[in-house]
Amino acid sequence: MNKFGFVLHPLSIDDVARKYPPAKYLPTSWVEGLLNRMPPKFLSQIANLRSDAGATADGCFVGCPATPRQLVEWPPERAYTRILQAIDMAARWGAKIVGLGAFTAVVGDKGLTLAERSSIGITTGNSYTVYTAIEGALKAADMMGIDAGNARAAVLGATGSIGRACALLLAPQVGALSLVGRRPDALQAIAEEVTDLRCETFTDVAEGLRDADIVLAVTSATEAIIGPNDVKPGAVVCDVARPRNASRALAEQRDDVLVIEGGAVAVPGEGFDFGFDFGFPPGLSYACMAETMILALEGRFDGYSLGPELRLEQVREMGALAQKHGFRLAGFRCFERTVSEEDIARRRLNAGR
Ligand SMILES: NC(=O)c1ccc[n+]([C@@H]2O[C@H](COP(=O)([O-])OP(=O)(O)OC[C@H]3O[C@@H](n4cnc5c(N)ncnc54)[C@H](OP(=O)(O)O)[C@@H]3O)[C@@H](O)[C@H]2O)c1
Repeated sequence: MNKFGFVLHPLSIDDVARKYPPAKYLPTSWVEGLLNRMPPKFLSQIANLRSDAGATADGCFVGCPATPRQLVEWPPERAYTRILQAIDMAARWGAKIVGLGAFTAVVGDKGLTLAERSSIGITTGNSYTVYTAIEGALKAADMMGIDAGNARAAVLGATGSIGRACALLLAPQVGALSLVGRRPDALQAIAEEVTDLRCETFTDVAEGLRDADIVLAVTSATEAIIGPNDVKPGAVVCDVARPRNASRALAEQRDDVLVIEGGAVAVPGEGFDFGFDFGFPPGLSYACMAETMILALEGRFDGYSLGPELRLEQVREMGALAQKHGFRLAGFRCFERTVSEEDIARRRLNAGR
């Protein structure tokens, strides 16, 4: 049997409270102190995944007790040790490949060191995340009446692993591109890699997003960084980041803007059950989870999507493999709710289109 594991961690104290309700009444520092002392935990067994191509796999979720802030603030060695304990737990269960969820893929060198030290294959899941982020952003733009070929797109977090690949793959499909990040030199280096368009670079979020019709938000900021007044009327914001880059205020106060979560994927098989509530309804997964499942279904247990510079051929390959096995972009979601076609039509009307 092709077996996979996936490492999850709480993105916020609300996630901890979903499993341990009293956490909701405790100060954040106390909850983080408790997480500090907790070992990784086996969360669920994922049985009977069957793809449209007839391949099968089983999997498991393992919890790595740490918030995004802890994982970025700990020295990398401490974070690696904690994540490797979770990977080992999945390996002992029988997993031959493990996917790194959210900040377990962000810390340090994006999975390279973990892959070197692990006895089984590792993926960050970033290739399929990029593929679905672009697919979702362009589909949402179309539904909002935006002609992508003549539109300006902005990649917020363009110097990151997902951001760089999004910028390079989005460039031939849009009219203009803004690269937004914190380090001017790194932004310039990505701009020089983009050969299809001349990119503008920005280190100020509001300035970088102001003229963008399509925003791909892919930073590893631990708090929301896109406020309600930061985006253009009628814009689409595809928020791939976990925790989210878009503030709740943006989604709630701007009825002319469409905010969607990037990387939500429908798994083959009606209402597929993961045995653990990670915030999505049955049948849906994050793209990075889907990539791990796809690699297991393919029987490919080597490292994939590793390191700060994603290989674009892996992004394209993952898109093709997802189609082969019946994974597809899920309907749009925003802050734990489904975004209906009527809602999009209303937002489009409010934007004057
Ligand atoms: N939805 C999904 O299925 C899925 C799958 C995988 C990952 N993700 C999420 O995607 C995000 C990016 O992952 P990654 O692997 O690309 O991370 P990464 O390689 O570490 O890149 C993160 C980028 O964010 C920038 N950044 C960090 N904090 C910022 C801040 N406060 N303001 C502005 N920019 C900031 C970094 O800038 P510097 O270069 O200056 O450090 C870098 O460009 C993470 O939130 C991750 O959890 C989602």
